[in-house]
Formats: sequence, C-alpha cells, structure tokens
Amino acid sequence: MRLLDYSLGIVCFVWTANAAVYTKFEDLPSVSFDYVIVGAGTAGNVLAYRLTEDASASVLVIEAGPSDENVLPAIAPFLAPGLTPNTPYDWNYTTVPRESIDNRSIPYNRGHILGGSSSANYHVHQYGPPDDYDKLAAITGDNGWSWDKIKKYVYKHEKFRKPVQDAGEEKRYIQEDHGTQGIVPVSLPGHHQAVDDLVIAATRELPHDFPYSPDTSGILGLGWAQSTIDNGTRQSSSTTYLRSANSRPNLSVLIETQVLKLLPTSRNGGKPAFRGVLLSNGESTPNYVFAKNEVILSAGSIGTPQLLLLSGIGPKEDLESHGIHTLVDNPSVGHNFSDHIYVPYHFAVRGADTLDDLLRNPALMQAAIGEWMVTQKGPISNGVLNQFGFFRFPSNTSIFDSTPDPATGPNAPHWEMMICNFWLSRVLSIPPTGNFLSLLTVLGAPISRGFVKLSSADPLHKPIIDPQYLTKDYDTAALREAARAMKKFASAKAFSDFIIEPVESSAFDSDETLDDHIRKTVDIVFHAVGTGSMSKDSANWGVVNSKLKVKGTDGLRVVDASVWPFVPSVHTQGPTYLVAERAADIILDEYKSGAWDGLLHLAQNVWSSPDSSPSGSVTLSQLGDL
Ligand SMILES: Cc1cc2nc3c(=O)[nH]c(=O)nc-3n(C[C@H](O)[C@H](O)[C@H](O)COP(=O)(O)OP(=O)(O)OC[C@H]3O[C@@H](n4cnc5c(N)ncnc54)[C@H](O)[C@@H]3O)c2cc1C
Ligand SMILES: *[C@@H]1O[C@H](CO)[C@@H](O)[C@H](O)[C@H]1NC(C)=O
Ligand SMILES: *[C@@H]1O[C@H](CO)[C@@H](O)[C@H](O)[C@H]1NC(C)=O
Ligand SMILES: *[C@@H]1O[C@H](CO)[C@@H](O)[C@H](O)[C@H]1NC(C)=O
Ligand SMILES: *[C@@H]1O[C@H](CO)[C@@H](O)[C@H](O)[C@H]1NC(C)=O
Ligand SMILES: *[C@@H]1O[C@H](CO)[C@@H](O)[C@H](O)[C@H]1NC(C)=O
Ligand SMILES: *[C@@H]1O[C@H](CO)[C@@H](O)[C@H](O)[C@H]1NC(C)=O
Repeated sequence: MRLLDYSLGIVCFVWTANAAVYTKFEDLPSVSFDYVIVGAGTAGNVLAYRLTEDASASVLVIEAGPSDENVLPAIAPFLAPGLTPNTPYDWNYTTVPRESIDNRSIPYNRGHILGGSSSANYHVHQYGPPDDYDKLAAITGDNGWSWDKIKKYVYKHEKFRKPVQDAGEEKRYIQEDHGTQGIVPVSLPGHHQAVDDLVIAATRELPHDFPYSPDTSGILGLGWAQSTIDNGTRQSSSTTYLRSANSRPNLSVLIETQVLKLLPTSRNGGKPAFRGVLLSNGESTPNYVFAKNEVILSAGSIGTPQLLLLSGIGPKEDLESHGIHTLVDNPSVGHNFSDHIYVPYHFAVRGADTLDDLLRNPALMQAAIGEWMVTQKGPISNGVLNQFGFFRFPSNTSIFDSTPDPATGPNAPHWEMMICNFWLSRVLSIPPTGNFLSLLTVLGAPISRGFVKLSSADPLHKPIIDPQYLTKDYDTAALREAARAMKKFASAKAFSDFIIEPVESSAFDSDETLDDHIRKTVDIVFHAVGTGSMSKDSANWGVVNSKLKVKGTDGLRVVDASVWPFVPSVHTQGPTYLVAERAADIILDEYKSGAWDGLLHLAQNVWSSPDSSPSGSVTLSQLGDL
C-alpha cells in the first residue's frame, strides 16, 4: 500500500548533528523550565526558536519521536512517501472504518520524528487566501488573525530561494509576497518534467476555467508549487528553526520521550493550572517536569486533544466512561475535526518521461538516489508534484442550491487539482506496465466534521480517529463537480499527443458510478485541524481563546494546527507556521508586560507530593489520585 516501498537506511547520508538534544531525562539540566513545549513538530520548533531568542528564558521541548538525522526519506524530497506509515517515524494511526467510504480504514500519517509532520510531509508550502485569515479573525473576534496583521509573519518565517533557472515568460512567483530573510527556505521545483509545459499550455488554452496563477501560495489558479526544499533537500522545522537555535544555552530538547499527561498543579482564581507534564521513555518510571510560566501543547491535531482528554480536559461523559476525573468539562475537545480529502484519476500517457518506472524498478530508484546523493539534483530532488491549482465552482452551480457556499470568501477555492507525473494512489495499485498522469481532485472546503476520542485511559493506546469523511451530501457532490471539471482540463488540446486514455473512464457514466469511484478511492491530504479550535472567549464552544489559552485553565496553551477552527483552503504547514509565529509574539508580549508576575509563586507550589518522589519520578498509581 505504501506509495514508495524501499528499505530504509540503505545508504548513509551524512547530516549535521543537532546539539542540546537529549535522549535521557537524567541528563536534562533541570526539571523546571520557564516554558515546556510538548511536541518538537512544525509549530513546537517555531516556539522553541522564538521563545529562546531572549536568552533569559529557559525552554524544554519534549518529542516522542527519534531524531531526523540521517533519515534519508526525511531528507530526500521524492522519498517522503516512504517515511510513513508503519515506520518508526509515524504514529501509525488509522481512521475508524465508515460506510461513507466503503467501510475502509485510512492510514492517518503523523510525523513521529524531530520536526513532526514538517519532517514527514510532502513539502508543499502555501499560506492561503486572505479570506481564510479574515474568517479566522471574525470567528475569534481577534483582528490580530486577519491577513493584514498576519502577513508580516510571512517575512519572519520564509527565506524564499530565487529560482536558478529563468522563469521564462510567465512569473512563477510574486517576489513581493515572499520573504527572503526568514528562517525556512522555500523554492520552486528544481527538476523539470515534460508534462510541466503541457500543463502550462492547458492554462493558456482554458484561461476561464483554469487560469494561470503567478503565485500558488494563496492565489486562485494553476501554477508552480512552492516547496520547503532547498537545493534538493527537505527543510523542516527541525532543520531550520530548531537547528538555528540549538546552540542557545537555555534551550533543551528531549527526544524519544512521550508526554503521558498534564499534571494539575495549583489553582488560580478557581481555574485549575496545568504547569507540569508527566513523561516517559517507555523504559524507566515516568518522570515529571514543570513550567514556571506555562506548558504549551504543540502535539498536533491528534496528539493535542488526546493529551487534553487524558488530563481531564474534555467532554465529561467521555472522560467518565474511561474513569478519568473531569477537571475542565469542555465538549469541544477533539471535535470539529476538519480535513482535506482527494480522489485520484489516472491517465495512460505516451512517452517514458513519467516517474512510474522509477517507482516500479528498484535498480532505477537506486541509481536516481545515487545521482541525488552526489548532486542533490534529478527526480529525487523534487517533491511529489511540480504544479497544482485552486479553483472555484461557477456561481450558478446547483450544488449551492441546498448548501450555502462553504468557501471562506470570494477569493477562496472550492477545490484543488494536484498534478502528479506518475501513478499516485494508496488504494489502486500501479499497473505493471505503462506510464501515467495522475490528476487528484481535492475537496477544498469540506463541511463534514469528525472527532478524536480516547479509546482508553492508557496514554500508550492510540485514540479513535473518526473524520466522518463524505458524511455530508455536499462533500460528495463537490467532489463530483470537481471530477467533471478535472475531466475538462484533461481534454485540453495541449494534452492530445500525451494522454492516451483515462483509466477510470467508466466512473463518468453517471452520478452513481462517480460516487462509487469517490467512495472507493478517496484518501487523505493529511490536513487535520479543528480538534483544539480557537473561538471567542464568550463562545459556548471551542477549546482555546484567540490568545490560544486553553479555556477554563491556567498556565496552558495550544499552539499547533489543531487550533484552526476550519481547515484552511490550502496545504496546512504554512498556515501552521504562521499561527506559531504569531503565538510566539502573543506569549512574549504577555510575559514582557509583567501580567504574570503575580504567578511566580506557582513555581514553588507546583506539586504537592515531592517527598514521595525525591528523584523527580512519580508512579502512575500516585497520579491516579489526582
Ligand atoms: C504524510 C504527510 C504529508 C503532508 N503533506 C503536506 C504538504 O505537502 N504540505 C503541507 O502544507 N502540509 C502537508 N501535511 C500537513 C502538515 O505537515 C501538517 O498540517 C503540519 O505539519 C502540522 O503541524 P503541527 O505542529 O500541528 O503538528 P506536527 O508537526 O505533527 O507536530 C506534532 C509533534 O508532536 C509530537 N507529539 C505528539 N504527541 C506527543 C506526546 N504525547 N509526547 C511527545 N511528543 C508528542 C509528534 O511526534 C510531532 O513531532 C502533510 C502531513 C503528512 C503527515
Ligand atoms: C537561562 O534562563 C534562566 C531563567 O530560567 C536565567 O536566569 C539564566 O540567566 C539563563 N541563562 C543564560 C545563559 O542566559
Ligand atoms: C509504527 O510502526 C512501526 C512498524 O511496525 C514501528 O516500528 C513503530 O514503532 C510504530 N510507531 C509507533 C509510534 O508506535
Ligand atoms: C459496510 O458495513 C456495513 C455494516 O457491517 C454493511 O452493512 C455494508 O454492506 C458494508 N458496505 C460495504 C460497501 O462493504
Ligand atoms: C463546532 O464548530 C461550530 C462552529 O463552526 C460550533 O458551532 C460547534 O458548537 C462546534 N462543535 C463542538 C462540539 O465544539
Ligand atoms: C547545492 O548542492 C550542491 C551539491 O551538494 C553543492 O555543490 C552546492 O554548493 C549547493 N548549493 C548551494 C547554494 O548550497
Ligand atoms: C452556468 O453558466 C454557464 C455560463 O453562463 C452555462 O454555460 C452553464 O450551462 C450554467 N450552468 C447551470 C447549471 O446553469
């Protein structure tokens, strides 16, 4: 089922070591830090970097997964799909089987590695239309999330690399919309493919339906992908933010260590404080560490709600059913899971300039990897796509007759088309011979919402993930509409010498056959959000307020993709990075202003039974008393 199957570790790639990274609790310089960040993932490492820019603050980041050093598929871009699932670098989650997707259970990949999903993802980097941020500002009542206010973080975050080759007649990106002095390198595709020119020709031929986009980071239309790749190698939050900060004396990173739950510490004005975390490397007795200022959950859209629930923050009924004492009854924790799904369509094509033979033939793959190791060039230096597009349905489409338009605004897409120069599907296996083009239709603004729940009070048990894909008629209807638009694109004259025939042509016989194909082949784009939703302070739903503090608690924040109350219109790593950049400013401002000075006494008062655990370790049965 894996997209790319080859044995890991066949080659040894030398990769600069990280400093200040511990694997043993005993080696940590302290058990108390100003900030404790749970998860060294996409968002967590942004905070690690920003909160230690001021050397006077001490920060501990705790990561369950191993180091990303020398992990070839986390470095060589085209090998990324081999990093997950069912490897040491994935949490190996699967979704609950649902009749709406033919009773299938989908592997729900999440990076379990330094850098989190930014080390495991497929590199596409975007921010999204301003509409997404303006909607977030409206939902939270906090204008600080509006695009006008957020845009400055693009320049702090991004280090756009000028294309080596001339862009030709069309702009491939809009220079003014990008930063060059930030932290994470972003670049246009390095390795050109024959199909790329045909795709651009098709945009010229069908400018009404498939306009060319001069910059795909947030503008409607079809254009060149921007990726977290620099000179042919992956750029994750680990290789950028964390690596730039890891010589700072007050930053400690503890890897191969899982946080099991949060520890309630003292109460402040009646609100339970959670300034401690219980952690384990799976071998010795669990230990705990404390935060003088706060604990920040950056464990991602699955890990964060799981930890909140394990700690007694969530829907009371669910917690009680697992024997967990409810400290904060909040029905929203884990709910409003929102995600992107895609449906693949394949076309048999002429010529051999697709990547199918590379994927079928281990000898060719070895040779390409060898070429990449020496030059950082060739097909391995690219991500899984060079081009993609974001589109709206025509306003007279009948699918909005029964459902209000779910796009975040007039400049936000309803659907996306990804263009892959090879057979891509985790469901339908690649035919033994032939060359293929894959056009993937993505539901841009889904309306179905799912949930993450505990399966057990044991932190080592995987949670239940039920995204409820295609449980709303609109979602299926939109994918049908997208499929028909995709078919029109594939019929462009530009492809007449290239495309031989569609593989799934009978899917287009009727609505029913199309729905059947959709149910059977739909898969995820890995963009889960919503399980730790932001909302107004006054809202009767939501997990965190607009300053990302967990409602009803003290000393606890969530900073990761889970705080987006709806899935952004684009791929989610960029929107996650921007949330984390603003979160760092929010946190730094708050402590700078002295608003928390009165709480320093909490540091002395954090844990009530230190005598029974002089070495800093505590047993699980002791915790049961909490
Ligand atoms: C296979 C894949 C492909 C993707 N492709 C793209 C793409 O091309 N473009 C794009 O924009 N987005 C893509 N995404 C999505 C994007 O990467 C995520 O939306 C984003 O990285 C999420 O960031 P995060 O900080 O919320 O979580 P993560 O980056 O996942 O970080 C969470 C971290 O917390 C750690 N953690 C969790 N629980 C615990 C615990 N209890 N104790 C200690 N540590 C814990 C995890 O191991 C992880 O390191 C992809 C995702 C995947 C998985
Ligand atoms: C590290 O942080 C502490 C506060 O926790 C501060 O007192 C100390 O000066 C910092 N150390 C350095 C080297 O900056
Ligand atoms: C995921 O599966 C692989 C292979 O079975 C295993 O080595 C790894 O430990 C699993 N990941 C986690 C987080 O359990
Ligand atoms: C899915 O499972 C349900 C319940 O077991 C069953 O009734 C149904 O026929 C199954 N559907 C498919 C497509 O297999
Ligand atoms: C989900 O989000 C909507 C707002 O989009 C809100 O009205 C609803 O209450 C939320 N549901 C839960 C369980 O939090
Ligand atoms: C890119 O990688 C190649 C091969 O390792 C190296 O020779 C070159 O200097 C690198 N270029 C930049 C700009 O880092
Ligand atoms: C929508 O408008 C277009 C162009 O005006 C027209 O070709 C099409 O038939 C209309 N579709 C519907 C469903 O009315």
